[in-house]
Amino acid sequence: MQRLIPTLRNDQVDEALISVLNSLSICAKEISFRVGQGDLAGVLGSTLDENIQGETQKKLDVLSNQLLKDILLESTHVRAVASEEEDGIVTGAAEGQYLVAFDPLDGSSNIDINSMVGTIFSILPTPADNSGDASMFLQPGRQQVAAGYILYGPRTMLVFTTGRGVKMFTLDQTVGEFLLTDADVQIPLDTEEFAINMSNHRHWRPEMRRYIDDLLLGKDGPRGKNFNMRWIAAMVADVHRVLCRGGLFTYPWDGRSHSKPYKLRLLYEGNPMALLVEQAGGIAHTGQEAILDIQPDDIHQRISVILGSKNEVAACLNYLEGSQ
Ligand code: AHG
Ligand code: MN
Ligand code: MN
Ligand code: MN
Repeated sequence: MQRLIPTLRNDQVDEALISVLNSLSICAKEISFRVGQGDLAGVLGSTLDENIQGETQKKLDVLSNQLLKDILLESTHVRAVASEEEDGIVTGAAEGQYLVAFDPLDGSSNIDINSMVGTIFSILPTPADNSGDASMFLQPGRQQVAAGYILYGPRTMLVFTTGRGVKMFTLDQTVGEFLLTDADVQIPLDTEEFAINMSNHRHWRPEMRRYIDDLLLGKDGPRGKNFNMRWIAAMVADVHRVLCRGGLFTYPWDGRSHSKPYKLRLLYEGNPMALLVEQAGGIAHTGQEAILDIQPDDIHQRISVILGSKNEVAACLNYLEGSQ
């Protein structure tokens, strides 16, 4: 099985980008080890702090964020990082060609119950003006030069794209290396599986309620087939399942709080997952536009997400007809 760096060289990926991806793979091994230690290393539970998102930070959110910052900012290729857990950006090498945005630990509510979590990353080019402030990150997701995630599950996996399809690597603990286990991930066009937090049903727009209600009617309803539901409560794990066997994943607009009608973040969750899904033959949309076409106006911007198998996302978009 092929190792990470030879695979990237084979794909003629730029050496500076290989170096950044290698830094991320080092973070992956370190975070994977800490997640695996849990109580043995005293890393479970919450801190007393709240992040910019208004969430109480878990100890592992803070630890993973610090590790990623320390390792990435050591690189001469990284101009700045932006994180779900940081108020503003943190700058590094003045001449670094790349910006890295990340969700250090996705699925925080799974940490203490020993369930799946992950790290999501997005790599953008440093813009020509190299202003050194947060505006450098305000680029549509189509500009990403690479994006992916590390999944800490029964197996630790590194999944990413550099714009030539999606590859999956599995961490071989015996040699401490990521080995290529799927060279060309393709999402099936059709599916009978969907993922949504059903407890928010009453808060969705009527169009989204109608779409889900029709899925629940199964074979005798307008969709004419039975659907199954899965919800891991970690986008990284739900999207991983979609990449492996298809499905539709959504965290749509909901009216619980009008100041925060969306849950998922564009830079740290939406854009990287959207690039992976499009590269694997799926669709990633807000209900109004392709996620990758959004011009961000804030690094912590949130959006509605509907992604997965091409034909099923198209069916969902038909119900929404432009609302989100
Ligand atoms: P994070 O742990 O990085 O804050 O993100 C959690 C997100 C996402 O991973 C997941 O799909 C969603 O929150 C789960 O939301 P619910 O708790 O509403 O199910
Ligand atoms: Mn969070
Ligand atoms: Mn997250
Ligand atoms: Mn997170």
